[in-house]
Amino acid sequence: MTSGRGRVGVAVVGAGAISNQYLGNLTRYPDLDVRIVADTFKDRAAEQAAAFGVARSGSLEDALADDDVEIVVNLTNPLSHFQVSMLALAAGKHVWTEKPFAVELDEGAKLQQAANEAGTRIGCAPDTFLGPGLQTALGLIAAGEIGTAVSALTLFETPGPAPDHRNLALLFTRGGGPLFDIAPYYLTALVQAFGPLASVVATARTARPRRVIQVGPMAGREFTATVPTNVSVLAQFESGPMSTSVLSWDSPLNRQGWVEITGTRATIAVPDPNRFDGEVRLKRHGAREWVGVPLLGRGSGRGIGTLDIARAIRAGRPHRASPELAYHVLDSMVAIEESLRREGFVSVKSGCDRAELLPADWDPCARTL
Ligand SMILES: NC(=O)c1ccc[n+]([C@@H]2O[C@H](COP(=O)([O-])OP(=O)(O)OC[C@H]3O[C@@H](n4cnc5c(N)ncnc54)[C@H](O)[C@@H]3O)[C@@H](O)[C@H]2O)c1
Repeated sequence: MTSGRGRVGVAVVGAGAISNQYLGNLTRYPDLDVRIVADTFKDRAAEQAAAFGVARSGSLEDALADDDVEIVVNLTNPLSHFQVSMLALAAGKHVWTEKPFAVELDEGAKLQQAANEAGTRIGCAPDTFLGPGLQTALGLIAAGEIGTAVSALTLFETPGPAPDHRNLALLFTRGGGPLFDIAPYYLTALVQAFGPLASVVATARTARPRRVIQVGPMAGREFTATVPTNVSVLAQFESGPMSTSVLSWDSPLNRQGWVEITGTRATIAVPDPNRFDGEVRLKRHGAREWVGVPLLGRGSGRGIGTLDIARAIRAGRPHRASPELAYHVLDSMVAIEESLRREGFVSVKSGCDRAELLPADWDPCARTL
């Protein structure tokens, strides 16, 4: 691999639904140089490269063979994450992967080990906690505005993922469902607020196992969900607080992004952890009204975690969406599954540090490299 200075070369692997947001942002950040879009379906890769002005498109192998690619952005389907990330690490590339980090816990451990051995970085979505919404809320919590943290309530209730998703059925199989697809947002936000989980207990069911594919060549075909579509979780955090979470794709309601964190002095309403902006509100003990708090930081979107890795590589500092955080979130989800099987509390053994807040002048659109 070349370089070590200047802009950081990036390959986007996986030219599906979410690549629109990533490519829109990554090609806008002046510290990054998106060199190639890759996909098993080369026509999709070519289409996305053309749409976002990226010079090359091709296969994963083409991306890994490009010496100017330093970071591989893995936007493949969850069951491909492990394999694609491992191949990228073996090729000496740094990796940013979409969530989940992996599907099995031992895969998460192998990814960490491979990155350590290769001396490369790996980071995992979500990077929403680096957006102005969560950064503002986390800053207030760190500054003691809510007092001692006591508890959190998170609600994610929808009828299910957008029915026009091309690979809808895949979202209802291993690596998907509201646990692996959605919980990473909520768990990551809670870990940033409270530190690591200590134990979990959960219940789940699948109220609507039969679903229908809405678009594409398979439109009209029914499929069966093989993962729970409604999961309720109680979590105990090492530092003392506890959380109650609902994760549902079975609800006629559309109530998502609800995160309230209560402390001894105030409750804070935190923005949707699947978004980068949103509203931060505080209700102080004894006050009648909620008070809105202006957001700090610059507008940003999917891809700022990749950018943080790029800047961290050049600065020789740790990146914020760390492999330890990714592994801990995976460990927590696997513990939730184990709790469903055992019908009882399960300890979460791994830990991780909370990420440092971004500096006030952090601007994804500034050229710093
Ligand atoms: N769609 C969303 O709204 C959304 C939002 C946030 C995060 N994500 C995450 O982004 C990832 C991708 O989701 P999506 O909705 O874009 O999926 P998608 O099915 O639309 O696209 C995935 C693409 O990856 C390609 N692919 C799969 N395996 C590959 C491999 N081994 N090598 C090269 N290409 C491969 C597929 O051909 C496909 O084009 C998932 O992990 C998902 O959790 C999606």
